[in-house]
Amino acid sequence: MISGHRGAAALAPENTLAGLQEAAKHQIQWVEMDTQLCADFIPVMFHDKKVNRCTNGRGYVRELNLAELKALDAGSWFSANFANERILTLDEALTACRTYQLNLNLEIKVHDESETGLLVSKVADTIAANGFPAESLILSSFSVNAVTCCQKMMPHIRRGLICDSVPDDLMALSKQLELFSVHMDYRLLDETLAGRIKQAGLDLHIWTMNKPELVTRFYQWGVDIMITDNPPLLLSSLS
Ligand code: G3P
Ligand code: MG
Repeated sequence: MISGHRGAAALAPENTLAGLQEAAKHQIQWVEMDTQLCADFIPVMFHDKKVNRCTNGRGYVRELNLAELKALDAGSWFSANFANERILTLDEALTACRTYQLNLNLEIKVHDESETGLLVSKVADTIAANGFPAESLILSSFSVNAVTCCQKMMPHIRRGLICDSVPDDLMALSKQLELFSVHMDYRLLDETLAGRIKQAGLDLHIWTMNKPELVTRFYQWGVDIMITDNPPLLLSSLS
């Protein structure tokens, strides 16, 4: 299965409504998006710590309130065609995923571990208030602490650990966190590691896999979801 990365980051500005629409257009089932808190403690969809790269503004997401973030152009940096894109709140992203029938891999983006509990509690409140179905959601993070908070605060929602290295204690950790999935940097995966993860009963997701020529190999190794910036490019290798 194919998942869009940050929406569909090669085709539309990342973590925006346009990205979700692009993913839906290509009839994929999953998207990955990043969430973090803004100054008024509202979870918003944004990857970087600062707004500088992906908007026309400057400064830290955490230090800007929602009104300030909403005033920014989050599309022109990508292309003039997306000049009206705005930063989404998590609530808006959840509603859009429902509208477009997309399952969401929600990455809890931790830029400051001292605030992880606060961030996860606000995410939990938003998901509950929105009523987004748990079966259409996976919560994921690089932060073991964030995944632990998800386990405590939203035990009914599936959890994934994102890995940019292979932890020595991956299997013990997956038991402790009661993981549904492991989200591995595709460059770290070999057949043996894929086999170990699958044998442990875990779903195996890889990121950020933009190489159509590798799709068949990863599929044969048992990869369940390939997270990519360019869903149609990978889909074209399957036809
Ligand atoms: O969820 C996998 C991937 O999104 C992790 O990396 O930096 O794109 O959030 P990043
Ligand atoms: Mg991410």
